[in-house]
Amino acid sequence: MNLSNRIKQLVEANFDELVSTRRHLHSNPELSFEEFETTKFIASKLKDNGFDLQKITETGGYIDIKGKNPGSRTIALRGDIDALPISEQNEKEYTSKNEGVMHACGHDVHTTCLLGAIQILNELKDEFEGTIRCIFQPGEEKLPGGASIMIKNGVLKNPRVEKILGQHVMPLIDAGKVGFRSGLYMASADEIYIKVIGKGGHGAHPHQNIDPVVIAAQIITQLQTVVSRHTKPSIPSVLSIGKVIANGATNIIPNEVYMEGTFRTYDEEWRMKAHTLIEKICNDIAEAHGAKCEAEVRKGYPFLKNDEDLSNNAQAWAVEYLGAENVEDLEIWPAGEDFAYYSQEIPACFYRLGIRNEAEGITSMLHTPTFDVDEKALKVGAGLMAYLAVRELGLK
Ligand code: NI
Repeated sequence: MNLSNRIKQLVEANFDELVSTRRHLHSNPELSFEEFETTKFIASKLKDNGFDLQKITETGGYIDIKGKNPGSRTIALRGDIDALPISEQNEKEYTSKNEGVMHACGHDVHTTCLLGAIQILNELKDEFEGTIRCIFQPGEEKLPGGASIMIKNGVLKNPRVEKILGQHVMPLIDAGKVGFRSGLYMASADEIYIKVIGKGGHGAHPHQNIDPVVIAAQIITQLQTVVSRHTKPSIPSVLSIGKVIANGATNIIPNEVYMEGTFRTYDEEWRMKAHTLIEKICNDIAEAHGAKCEAEVRKGYPFLKNDEDLSNNAQAWAVEYLGAENVEDLEIWPAGEDFAYYSQEIPACFYRLGIRNEAEGITSMLHTPTFDVDEKALKVGAGLMAYLAVRELGLK
């Protein structure tokens, strides 16, 4: 039997277990860097397969699956394990039992699929050459990002990890399908915080005040030129101000206006220049009106670039495994993702796992209280990940 069919058979045999694993994780979500019970659960599942989780942060770790000639090469597979501070609104038997915490980004699926891939790869370990490091990563949703800590603590060393693959659920893609993109994929995501400090007073006497609302309005408008007038057209960039608080009234000019926003792009040099420019625009406009301004851009995750060779190969292997009709090309996606840290270190491929099922009403987007997945996606999530790893290392 060929590799693809063998893996599909193994997935089919494990499917009930995958569903119950995912439901357990979904019912018991934990916030970033607090994934203590989740990590215990993962460790016990790994133990059942004869592996000891090597912890390298409080709640993060890895195992190595050694094939033939294990010292020859090492590649890595990554699953993130944390949940979000959202109250789940689904009414299913597996709905979150931790009020205010929810796996609304599908990391329960990523964890389950990695555990499933491990079961398969363990069965196939006499048939590939090299080592597969399987990384269970905490804290994807919270700065500084679990990936950066795992890397600092050596997850890509001893032995040196050559390439890494990761997957993420995608509600825009039907369950049973996946999506790939080679090259630039996800953006660096930085946070903008601005406080305009004027002088409040009666709305009837603006000449006696320094109106921070008018100044803030000018700042918002002027910041749009960061993208429209200063960004090279070849570098995708986004700047959005999403929060504006001016706590005055019909007849009260407030003392301060507070704003928050986001800046996203795909070039490190431009990213740093843009930060300076954003702060300068805020300060200069405030100064021109006699106000003060505290503007700060806080760095989030870097941009994520999918290695061309690895991504093109992985996409071709996905076509072998799923058929061309089930493999889509992805567009650039300017959300942030801490898998980007791995992609800055070694060749990486981050691909999308379809989980949508319109007929069953499973269409909610990520980070919403009604997010859910078609669990049939677990088969593709576990099986394809194992298939890609074996194809990368080469069947022996
Ligand atoms: Ni996520």
